[in-house]
This record gives sequence, structure tokens and C-alpha cells, in this order.
Amino acid sequence: MYAAYAARFDTDSPLAALAVGERPDPAPQDPDWVTVQVRASSLNHHDLWSLRGVGLTEARLPMILGCDAAGVDPDGNEVVVYPVVADPTDPRGVSILSENHPGTFAERVAVPRANLVPLPAGMPFTDAACLPTAWLTAWRMLTTRGRIDQADAVLVQGAGGGVATAAVALAVASGKRVYATSRDAGKRERIEALGATALEPGARLPERVDVVIETVGAATFDHSMKSAAPGARIVVSGATAGYEPKVNLRRVFAMQLEILGSSMGTPGELADLLAFCVAREVRPVIDTVYGFSQVEEAFARLESGEVFGKVVLDHTK
Ligand SMILES: NC(=O)c1ccc[n+]([C@@H]2O[C@H](COP(=O)([O-])OP(=O)(O)OC[C@H]3O[C@@H](n4cnc5c(N)ncnc54)[C@H](OP(=O)(O)O)[C@@H]3O)[C@@H](O)[C@H]2O)c1
Repeated sequence: MYAAYAARFDTDSPLAALAVGERPDPAPQDPDWVTVQVRASSLNHHDLWSLRGVGLTEARLPMILGCDAAGVDPDGNEVVVYPVVADPTDPRGVSILSENHPGTFAERVAVPRANLVPLPAGMPFTDAACLPTAWLTAWRMLTTRGRIDQADAVLVQGAGGGVATAAVALAVASGKRVYATSRDAGKRERIEALGATALEPGARLPERVDVVIETVGAATFDHSMKSAAPGARIVVSGATAGYEPKVNLRRVFAMQLEILGSSMGTPGELADLLAFCVAREVRPVIDTVYGFSQVEEAFARLESGEVFGKVVLDHTK
């Protein structure tokens, strides 16, 4: 089958490590696994990390990339694929598709049947394919970890990214006052169109916030700390711009801040997210939809850093 995969690692030029071509069909691990015909998938920063050799080992190469998919199961049901798989070989006890098991940038992907979540009626495959990683991560950061129900105001850093645009859209749909930073004036305009107040990185907010959504890391963390109200939750799920920010511990204890890690979400949280999107008529923020045959262009788009929202692959084209 046709697939996009990491053939090797390249720290500086991850796109040079991307290969496209024929790979063997995925082999279901045991009778509880099924093969899904992929109709749409979406890219995540995770795929670029994989091409750089972060989270993947040489022994796993070649590895089909991709965490997100929506498609059709062997019984003809339209499904969204939850990408986290129990994995005793991994220190976390779990792995994400494309780490230890072949990913979704292929005609077919094998997953445990329990990982299939029904596609809500009327939701396009290309919308659904945005939700299982970036949107689920944002959902868990806001709800389970950030306790947004107890918040009035939310700050989202690096707001052009896949997780960040999801956090902006979901926090706005939850009725909160939302502030979002982006380095790019064009992205700031688009953030305003989503219903948030857009700011330059580091700008003083008109008020302190109860929840901060952090995926940028070292470049924005000091601003996140300074923007936090007493008792605020600073929720971290990524560090695109560096893992080692300086942290003023005095501010942490004096303001009684919570700095919380968050990763992905549960199948139940994915079902809740799908239901929320349907009920509040929230549609994923999509930067570009490429045909599957244009997967290399899609990767170049993600790597450009110019994206606003998700880069999606339509596997029917
Ligand atoms: N733990 C998990 O479960 C989980 C799940 C998904 C993602 N992640 C992580 O979260 C991060 C974001 O993922 P994504 O897929 O949303 O990535 P993405 O779509 O590539 O977005 C990254 C965003 O970070 C901002 N950024 C990058 N470099 C920056 C810098 N030097 N200064 C300020 N802002 C910068 C940019 O925002 P602007 O251009 O708007 O400034 C960019 O749009 C990644 O590190 C990823 O690995 C973790």
C-alpha cells in the first residue's frame, strides 16, 4: 500500500528523512485489532519530531508516520481512530501510532477495536481527522487539567499551531474570555476572527488569566507565569521552542500557581470532545487540505511554521 514514512532521521532537515512509496499492509497485532481504511489524516508537530529522531529509535525504521485518522472499519462503520495504544515495551506503558506501531499516513492502519470511536453523523472525514491528537490534547488541557469550568479568562501561547488554535476555538466556545499570542500579524488577525483577543508575544494582558495553554515552552514561559492570576493553572503539553525555561519559583509559591503536564487524552475525552463539537457547532481550524499524493507538500507546509490550524490529508485524492 502507498504510505509516507520515516526512512531515516535528520535533525536539521527533517523533510529529507521523509520517504513516500509502497509499504507492506499493516498486520493486526491480535484478534482484537482491526484494519481501518483511512479516508483522511492530519499532520502534527509530532511527525516532524519523528523525522528528527525524537521519540523513535533506529530499530523501528522504516516507520509509517501519522497519529490522526478517520476512516471506515471492516464492518463499514465510519470511525475516528484514537491513537494511543497500550504498550508494555514502552516506559510510559502506552505509545502513539507511528512510535511503535505503523501510523496513519497510509491507505490502511491497524488498531485495537477499542480505539474506534463513532464518527458523528454529518462530520466530514477531513474535520474528524483533526481531532484525535491536537484537538484532544487541547481539550484535556482545558478541561481535565486546566479546570476551565472554574475559569473566566484563558491565555493561549503560540496561537497559530494545531493544538493552540484548537484551544482558542474550544475556550471561545466554552464562553471564556480568551487571549492568544502569535509572532505573526496575519495569524493575530485570524485569531481575532475566532473570537479571541490577539496579542504580540510578551505583551501585557488587560487582566490576569486563570488558565494558560503552553505548547511553545522556553520562548513564552516567563510571559505565561507573569500573566497568571493567583491560583492559575499553567498547562504544558509541548515545548516547540525549548524545554528549559527559567522559572521564578517565588512567583509559583506566592501566587499559588499550578504548573501541570498534560499529554493527549483518553478515549472518553475524545468522545466528549466530539459531542462538544457537534453540540456547539465547533469546526476544526484547518490551514490546508492536501490530497494524499501531495504529502510531501503538506510536510513542507507544516515545517514552514506559517500554518494556522491543521494541515490535513484527504486520502480519497
Ligand atoms: N503532549 C502531547 O500530548 C502533545 C500533543 C500534541 C502536540 N504536542 C506538542 O505541542 C507542540 C505544538 O504542537 P502542534 O502540532 O500544535 O505544532 P504546530 O502546529 O507546529 O505549532 C507550533 C506553534 O508554536 C509556535 N512557535 C514555534 N516556535 C516558536 C517560537 N520560537 N516562539 C514563539 N512561538 C513559537 C508557533 O506559533 P505562532 O507562529 O503563532 O507564534 C507555532 O504555530 C509541539 O511541541 C508538539 O510536540 C504535544
